[in-house]
Amino acid sequence: MTSPTLLSPLTVRGLTLKNRVVISPMCQYSAIDGVVTDWHLVHLGRFAIGGAALVFVEATGVEARGRISPGDVGLWNDEQARALARIADFLKANGAAAGIQLAHAGRKGSTRRPWDGGAELAAGDLAKGEPPWETLAPSAIPFADNYPRPRAMSLADMAEVILAFRQATQRAEDAGFDVVEIHAAHGYLLHEFLSPLANHRTDQYGGDLAGRMRFPLEVVETVRAIWPTSKPLFLRVSASDYVDGGLIVDDTIAFAGAAKALGVDVVDCSSGGNTPTPPTLYPGYQVPYAQAVRAGADIATMAVGLILDPRQAEDILAGGKADLIALARPALDDPNFAIHASAFLTGAPDYGLAPTPAKSGLDRLAQSLRHIAKG
Ligand SMILES: Cc1cc2nc3c(=O)[nH]c(=O)nc-3n(C[C@H](O)[C@H](O)[C@H](O)COP(=O)(O)O)c2cc1C
Repeated sequence: MTSPTLLSPLTVRGLTLKNRVVISPMCQYSAIDGVVTDWHLVHLGRFAIGGAALVFVEATGVEARGRISPGDVGLWNDEQARALARIADFLKANGAAAGIQLAHAGRKGSTRRPWDGGAELAAGDLAKGEPPWETLAPSAIPFADNYPRPRAMSLADMAEVILAFRQATQRAEDAGFDVVEIHAAHGYLLHEFLSPLANHRTDQYGGDLAGRMRFPLEVVETVRAIWPTSKPLFLRVSASDYVDGGLIVDDTIAFAGAAKALGVDVVDCSSGGNTPTPPTLYPGYQVPYAQAVRAGADIATMAVGLILDPRQAEDILAGGKADLIALARPALDDPNFAIHASAFLTGAPDYGLAPTPAKSGLDRLAQSLRHIAKG
């Protein structure tokens, strides 16, 4: 039997991933002053124990203004970096590569945690010690009625955000991460620059696609200049805005091609988030974007979005539609997805995907099951 692609290694620059299962960034809204806690260690650590090749820390604000909510993780000071280093160390010590997504929320910042309603922070939040903050965007257009009106960024603001990305990248390196992903999706700052829905600028950072790509590409260039050449750089995009007059996949292919020329290795193909209306969902609904970007920009891609079972994941990879599979919700449901995929695709679970203490116990399970089967 040929070995499934899902379980085969992939080398990107100086990093070899042991299989193609990646844990997608997932905000936990549970940091304190941007500092990760034991919650994050356990949340992320269980995916390393479950055999994933690469585990991403959630959207991490490069500056305080770049958070979605007061509970977001940040990387604008050394205390935040030290706490993240503990997570990177744990992931790597337990067989997974450690990734971190660097983000700026733009006009979707200064909001409550989703379980507190998600809308704009207000006076009541100030009383709880969580004051609203001024948000930034390419143009002064709010995301929705219940979101803050952002300030249109000046060139000086843009220089500050570039500096914040540079410093956060250095801290990610110092903290020991293997992979950085730049968040240019889901209606956050870099996606806002890319999309004609949010970018109405009349200077060199707006207008046609070349103008709208300029600032996101400056961020890519800045991060790549700091991030070691031996380490992979991922870029998450929203391949489509799903509305007339918004971003379309051809724009995204052009953006991916330009990002590749600047040293991006993998494009993580998501979609939507720049309007309040969600897309129509079905299993693998974003896979066609990963396929189109892979073919159109000749770059490795990561497919994500309702990839629910190992057969579906394997078919995506074997069909040449993507190079990696990212999981968010299905991994919350099954942190051992990679181990279960090995059982499903090869007929026997590969407990070697788990770190030694877990493998040892799982091997004893297999032994007992064999014993029972013999009668
Ligand atoms: C709880 C939760 C938090 C998320 N946080 C992030 C995030 O920090 N950054 C990001 O790019 N996407 C985030 N996403 C989107 C996921 O990474 C993923 O793209 C999306 O859920 C679709 O994949 P799935 O069907 O495997 O869940 C989040 C999704 C969930 C469910």
